[in-house]
This record gives sequence, C-alpha cells and structure tokens, in this order.
Amino acid sequence: MPSFSAVLAANKQNAPKAIRPVAVLVGGTSGCGRGVAEVLAKYAQGNAHIVLVGRSEEAANEIFASFPKPVDGAKYEFVKCDVSSMRNVGIVTRDLASRLDKINYLVLSTGLLSLAGRRPTEDGVDYKIAVHYYSRFKFAHDLAPLLEKASTAGEPTRVLTILDSFMGAPSGVRPDDMTLEKNYSLQNAALVATTYNDGAIAALAKRYPTVSFSHANPGIVNTNAHRDMPFGIKQLTGLVATLISSPITTCGENMVYTLFDPSIPTGAHYRTPKGEDVKGKPNLSDADIEKIWQHSIEICDGK
Ligand SMILES: NC(=O)c1ccc[n+]([C@@H]2O[C@H](COP(=O)([O-])OP(=O)(O)OC[C@H]3O[C@@H](n4cnc5c(N)ncnc54)[C@H](OP(=O)(O)O)[C@@H]3O)[C@@H](O)[C@H]2O)c1
Repeated sequence: MPSFSAVLAANKQNAPKAIRPVAVLVGGTSGCGRGVAEVLAKYAQGNAHIVLVGRSEEAANEIFASFPKPVDGAKYEFVKCDVSSMRNVGIVTRDLASRLDKINYLVLSTGLLSLAGRRPTEDGVDYKIAVHYYSRFKFAHDLAPLLEKASTAGEPTRVLTILDSFMGAPSGVRPDDMTLEKNYSLQNAALVATTYNDGAIAALAKRYPTVSFSHANPGIVNTNAHRDMPFGIKQLTGLVATLISSPITTCGENMVYTLFDPSIPTGAHYRTPKGEDVKGKPNLSDADIEKIWQHSIEICDGK
C-alpha cells in the first residue's frame, strides 16, 4: 500500500503537464468529489477546464474561489443537474457533447445516506440507486465519445466512479428483478448499486478500449453524507466520522492517485481507498456483466 507521502510524490510526478485537461466532476460540489476537484485544480495550477455538475451553484462558486486563478483560456464552470432523473442527465450530457472538444477525467461521486424505503423515480427505478448508479452509467455512456477524443489525441482518459469497490457480488444481479421492485431493502439497494457499478465498469471498458475505467472505495471520509439522517443517528455518525475519518483533500489525493496512475491507461480497475487493486475482482460472470449493460441501456438510453 503506498504511503500518503508516496501518493503525494506520485501525483506530483504523474500530473499532466503538457496539456490543458478537461475534468467533469458529477457530485463535485461536496465531499469526496469536492476533494478530487480541489486536488485536480491544485496540480493543474490554473491550466484546466473544470466542470462541477450538481445542485448547488453557491457551493460550486465557493469551491472555485479556492482554486488557483485560471490561466488564459482555462475555466471553471458549474452545470446544474438533479441527477435522479435520466432526462435531466440527458440534457446535461447533450449540452456538454455540443460544446466540449474532449474530456480527460470524468469523476462520478453523487450520493446520499438515507434510511428511506424504495422511492420510485420517473424512470421506474429507486431514487437512491438512480443517484448511486443509473445517473453515473448515463454520464459515462453518453460522454464516452468525448473521452475517446482525448484518448485519440494521446491524452490521459479516465472515468472514476467513487462508491464501494469491495461489496459488489453476483448475488446483486437478479435477472427477474433488476430494479428491485420485489426485493427492496436497504442492504439489497446498496448491493445492487455497488454490483452495477462493478459490472458497468467492465462493460464500458470492453466497449471503449482506449479509455480507463475505475471503481474506487474512498474509505471513511469526513463529508456531509449523513446530513439527511434522523436526529441522533446524524449526530452519532457525525461524531464517528470526525474521530476516524480522513479529510476530503486526503481522499482527493488518494483518488487522484488512481486518476493519474500511468500503469492503468485503459481497461477496468477496482481500487482500494489507497489506490491498490481490490483482490478477487472482477467476480461477476460475463453473463452478469451483459445483463447489467442491457438493463442500464434500457433505463438510461434515449433520455
Ligand atoms: N464519506 C464516506 O465515508 C464514504 C464511504 C464510502 C462510500 N462513500 C460514497 O462516496 C460517494 C460520495 O459520498 P460523499 O461522502 O462525498 O457524500 P457527500 O459529501 O454527501 O457528496 C455527495 C454529492 O452528491 C450530490 N448529490 C446527491 N444527490 C444528488 C442529486 N439528486 N443530484 C445531484 N447531485 C446530488 C451532492 O450534492 P448536494 O450538495 O446538492 O446534495 C454532493 O455533491 C457516495 O456514493 C458515498 O456512498 C462515501
């Protein structure tokens, strides 16, 4: 496992120097995504186009104010999107596809902690799984042509989904109930979201062989993820998080270690919070992966 000082040294060495990277961070207005945005901005030293996709323009502007001043032609921009609706995601991906020349880094970290039961969205899927999985799949799938443009130019091209790269398992694929209408529980929802992220990484890497796709667990990070928990639980999780968690910029450096890692230029990768490969992955069969792909296309395509 690389020490944190080794992570810092590797990031400094591997940061792209001869290009102006374009980074799109969905969920970058808070927590782990914010940490990655701050670290990317630090290494780019003002020479980057960074797009934060989220709900809070106020949070994005506060983050941009802490970034190095953009040099000529570089810029920081906020794009508003509630990602629980695939129609909303489609509006944003079509907008980005119409005006960006390329994407080098696509970072997906939207999430929420909630004890609520299944809450169907207009797409017929659960709200929490839409935020943790379907929207992420749609961003990666719709924006793949822009990622391919960066790889064709010989530039680094990475997709990083931040959720839980340990827990996904074949038991998360129920061919007769892919949207968990019949088998919903908090545990099954978490299993499905992590398993579908695992499968999507493999399916996307197969279809876009010049792009690198990673699924990483961020570890325990001091974020605002528990904000919607009931009183008491919120205080307790907040206290535990403060005692044993990492700051978001530490998480950012660790996640950027995977984004910059020269040893994984293409393919599907499953990473620990410290940027090591998760042992035993992938553990899904080709049939499971294809089922996840087909189901995701059915839910997300054409919206
Ligand atoms: N923190 C940890 O210790 C930890 C551990 C393991 C896994 N994770 C996973 O890592 C991911 C990031 O978590 P985090 O701790 O960084 O959480 P966080 O601080 O709450 O950040 C989550 C981000 O998702 C955005 N978001 C939530 N719902 C959205 C929606 N409907 N539309 C658009 N944006 C939405 C939030 O935006 P708003 O600010 O607008 O709500 C926020 O920017 C999550 O998937 C989480 O499960 C976290």
